[in-house]
Parts: sequence; C-alpha cells; structure tokens
Amino acid sequence: MPRPTVVRAIDTVMDRTLVLGYSRIGLGVRRALPGWPADPLPRALEGRHVLVTGASSGLGAATVAGLADLGAVVHMVVRDEAKGAGVADRIRDAHPGAELRTWRCDVADLDDVRRFATGFVADVPDLHAVVHNAGVMPPERTESPQGLELSMAVHLVGPVVMTEALRGPLTGGRVVLVSSGGMYAQPLHADDPGYTTGDYSPTTSYARSKRWQVELAPVLADRWGADGTTVATMHPGWADTPGVRESLPTFRRLTRPVLRDDAQGADTSVWLTAVEPAPPTGRFWHDRVERPTHLLPTTRGSDRDRDRAWSWLRVAAGLEDTAAP
Ligand SMILES: NC(=O)c1ccc[n+]([C@@H]2O[C@H](COP(=O)([O-])OP(=O)(O)OC[C@H]3O[C@@H](n4cnc5c(N)ncnc54)[C@H](OP(=O)(O)O)[C@@H]3O)[C@@H](O)[C@H]2O)c1
Repeated sequence: MPRPTVVRAIDTVMDRTLVLGYSRIGLGVRRALPGWPADPLPRALEGRHVLVTGASSGLGAATVAGLADLGAVVHMVVRDEAKGAGVADRIRDAHPGAELRTWRCDVADLDDVRRFATGFVADVPDLHAVVHNAGVMPPERTESPQGLELSMAVHLVGPVVMTEALRGPLTGGRVVLVSSGGMYAQPLHADDPGYTTGDYSPTTSYARSKRWQVELAPVLADRWGADGTTVATMHPGWADTPGVRESLPTFRRLTRPVLRDDAQGADTSVWLTAVEPAPPTGRFWHDRVERPTHLLPTTRGSDRDRDRAWSWLRVAAGLEDTAAP
C-alpha cells in the first residue's frame, strides 16, 4: 500500500496536470487510492430537506439523484417547469422512493429569486442545504433583468440573494457553490464586475464569475457562520453534460473519451452536502479534498481587491439593507 505522502503526491500531480485530475481518470485513480474520504452513511439525509438549483440538467439532476438516494427530500429549482417535471419523473423512475418537489425560479432575476424564497420559506421550515449549481456561459455579453452581467447574476448574486432569503430555515445548514476549475485562469476583476471593458469572451466571463465565488466564499462563510451555516465552493472536474455539449463543442470533441459522467461530476457536491461532520467552512474542494484557490501567481489579488469585490456584492445583492453582519 503506498504511503500517505506518496498518495498525496499522486493526487497533486493529477490535480496540476488538468487532463488527469479533472477527467474520469482522476476520479477513478483517487477512489482507488488509500485515504479516499469515506462516503456519507447510507440514508445520511433521511428526512432532511435539500435545495438544488439548475436541477433540470446535467450535474444538477445527478446531484438531485445522489441526494435523494441518501434519503433527502430534494427541492429542485428549475426555470422551466415542464422540463423540470420531466427530469423529476425520470429521476423517480430510476430511483424509486425519491422524494422530489419542483419549484420555478430564474436565478438571474433577483426579483424572481426573492419571490421564490418567500414562498419556499413559508412552506419549508427546516432546510439542511442549498446547492447552487445553476450555470451559464452566455455567448455574448448579456444583462440580467437588474442589469447585472449574466454570469455574475447566475453564479454569484442570485445565489447570495437566495441564501440570504433562506437564512431562517437554513440555520445550522450548508451552502455549496458549484464553481469551475476554469477560475484558476482568472484573477478577481474587482474593478469590473460587469465585464464592461475589453473584448467579451464567454469562457472569460464564465471563469471570472467562478473566481468571484471562490474569492468571496470566506467572506460569505463569516457572514452566514453567524447562523452556524457553512459554505463550500467546489469544482466538478470535466463532465459530459448538455451545458458542455452546447457551450464547448470543440473541447468536448477533444476530451470526450475521458469526460466524467454526470454522477461523477456531482460526487463532491453530494459529499459536501451529506458527509458528517460538515467540512470546514469557506474552502474550495474537488474530488472530496480541499484544493488551493490559486495555481498561478498572476491570479493572486490583494485584500483591497477582495474588500472592493465584497462592497460591490453587498450593493448588488441588497445586503446593505439588512442588519446581519
Ligand atoms: N460540466 C462540467 O464539466 C462543468 C465543469 C465545471 C463547472 N461546471 C458547473 O456545474 C454546474 C452545472 O453545469 P452543467 O454542466 O450540468 O450545465 P448544464 O447542463 O447547462 O445545466 C445548467 C443548469 O443551470 C440551469 N440554469 C441556467 N441558467 C439559469 C437561471 N437563470 N435560472 C435557473 N436555472 C438556470 C439550467 O436550466 P435549463 O435546464 O432550463 O437550461 C440547467 O438546469 C454549473 O454551475 C457549471 O458552471 C460544470
């Protein structure tokens, strides 16, 4: 059996050589090595309520299925009710006994997020976790109904507004933000959250917003830690989802044989939600292990950048109006 230092070295090498670590190869090797973090206990979430956004496709649907298998009542937040109902039916067929409810909400539209949350809080008094999985890669610069750049609205501001509005039932619970390994390529552009300068690139806009999630996770962890709620950001590796097929067809053609399936991509989201005790808050995870938030010296920002980013987010998410820290 390899020694723990050797296992860690293998894991780190795979992590840095993206193709190995992010593909199904990485997950397969890591699972086979000693020290792979244990699965949550069977039925670990029995009777607990969990909310998953972007539940109508790819990793979100797989996360719903994984959590339902652990006994959770899963609230599937979707923007297209008919599509969501179809996905819920397919999950119920494949996972008999799955307890699922669908809710409609456009995570990009902060008014809709607040409407949804008001109804949800009235109906669900105790929420174990929220998995903010909804994701987009807008082909052109696009603005949300409130005038935010769309990637930032879907990946950051919408999730923060939703979590704030759910703080009551979520007390003592968990927040998981699905980020992306793409964020390693981008610094925190605290000076331009709206991507108003420079040529727009879909992958850059996507990666910037995912960087914001990771950079602000420790601040959000402090804020929601006042309620005993933990925050995790994670990246799923590379999975062959409808989103990847549509937004990254060339990448998919080149990597298809090694892409993860949806359940493999969802593994760490499910693990972070269900494992006991809750993993330490404010950290970034991949394949059940905490990962560095920077691999390149060029992406490291200053405390001033993070303060500026937090000030912007407080205004964008309307946190200035609330009394909480
Ligand atoms: N697949 C990968 O390799 C990979 C890698 C790194 C990170 N991720 C992240 O993993 C998450 C899931 O990605 P995926 O690959 O499963 O993508 P996907 O198949 O495109 O699924 C994205 C989901 O987000 C929903 N969504 C998008 N905009 C929304 C909005 N405004 N309001 C509510 N829901 C919205 C979509 O709804 P519709 O079904 O209505 O379109 C869909 O259910 C994303 O955050 C993505 O960035 C994926």
